Amino acid sequence: MPRELITIQVGQCGNQVAMRFWDLALQEHARYNKSAIYDEPLSSFFRNVDTRYAEPVDIPVGKQISNLRARSVVIDMEEGVINNILRSDLGELFDSRQLISDVSGAGNNWAHGHYEYGAKYHDEIIEKVRYNVEHCDSLQSFFLMHSMGGGTGSGVGTYTLSILADYFPEVFRFSTVVFPEDDVVTGPYNSVLAMSVLSEFADCVLPVDNQALIGILQMIEESKRKGKSGIKNDLAEPSDKKEAFAKMNNIIAHMLNNLTCSMRFEGMLNVDLNEITMNLVPFPKMPYLVSSISPLYSILDVKMEPRRLDQVFSDVIDKDFQLLKVDPKHSTYLACGLILRGDAKISDIHRNINRIKSDMNMIHWNQEGYKIGLFGMPYSLLCLSNNSCITTTFANLRQKFMRLYKRKANTHHYTEFMEISRFDQALESLDDVMGKYTELNVSKGKASRIKPVI
Ligand code: GTP
Ligand code: MG
Repeated sequence: MPRELITIQVGQCGNQVAMRFWDLALQEHARYNKSAIYDEPLSSFFRNVDTRYAEPVDIPVGKQISNLRARSVVIDMEEGVINNILRSDLGELFDSRQLISDVSGAGNNWAHGHYEYGAKYHDEIIEKVRYNVEHCDSLQSFFLMHSMGGGTGSGVGTYTLSILADYFPEVFRFSTVVFPEDDVVTGPYNSVLAMSVLSEFADCVLPVDNQALIGILQMIEESKRKGKSGIKNDLAEPSDKKEAFAKMNNIIAHMLNNLTCSMRFEGMLNVDLNEITMNLVPFPKMPYLVSSISPLYSILDVKMEPRRLDQVFSDVIDKDFQLLKVDPKHSTYLACGLILRGDAKISDIHRNINRIKSDMNMIHWNQEGYKIGLFGMPYSLLCLSNNSCITTTFANLRQKFMRLYKRKANTHHYTEFMEISRFDQALESLDDVMGKYTELNVSKGKASRIKPVI
């Protein structure tokens, strides 16, 4: 039986990513469940509010979703984003018992979000989370989504994470977070401060960065120009920011969709989020997973050309397919999970793992991999790795943080809500995490490469 996940979508970015995810999950379900029944796969993310039936009811396929509610809490300290959600085709997925908003936002200030709004909305957050928890039979995980660069997402998002640890310590906490490109001056402060909370309270973190996503969109555009096959045409490089976000969010939603498909649908090998955490996070304070995916378009796109099985395995260890701007080639894999959709033979999967592992510097202990057989063609492979290459992201972030902090630029906005020493504490926490990953980065040849388990 699928176990439920409660999503907590915070701030503009968190909400926009989540909406792409809900859309994709519903479309996918409609595609595979032609009988349009409220069934177990749907129950992991949605609850049925049609009181005429205690048991499964007809769900109109497509966008008529009035008898479904997303298992989620929707938070933004600006009203605009939530109003847009409620006005959208998917607005009916939410009701007032799930929504939390203020008027003016946290002004790109983590401390404002974390301390001021955190204290103000503490009771309401817990009450609305509890309402969702009470509607679950077997809660698997909290699933948070937010940006690292903004004030609400990073501040209220990580505040929520910390109180979930207090009130529901037995429930796993899984955060998907978006690192900023250089579009918010205080982004490095917010990211480092938020990371200090993630490192402490998240069981698993899936970071993606906008720079990498922009790079992927450019690569797709380039391939399209060269007439390479396997690339969906309308993912071309976008001209305006809103359109760009929509395309970038589509990639994140596609990744999350693949991550959770094995919880929603029957497969040959199913994994849930807790198992991923258990297998891929070998030590506390090292919950950060690098993700890559191939192909880089949605399985819902009927126009795409299928990619060969061997090709998707090669792609996911290639730097161009990472959702973070990192190169896993010369770093150490502490653990690796492979989640495959597609009707592949176990022998073909073994053959591919054997083939790519010579390019993966796998540490001699703690190796894991997953294989999930689900539907027919085409193939789609998600690779999650706990990988020392993530220090590139952290080092870049640290450098940007120091550039501001050594002049104490903009810190006065933060000290309205917190002590200045909180910055130093956050920096120390970042250094601690970086140190742990650096220590485990064994140069190639020294780490014995053991076959991932499938
Ligand atoms: P405040 O507005 O400061 O209260 O917080 P917020 O959480 O609403 O901020 P937001 O999520 O807008 O965070 C800003 C950062 O997120 C910037 O780096 C943006 O580029 C990025 N961002 C905003 N919206 C999106 C989105 O839909 N997708 C992606 N990928 N990034 C986004
Ligand atoms: Mg905002």
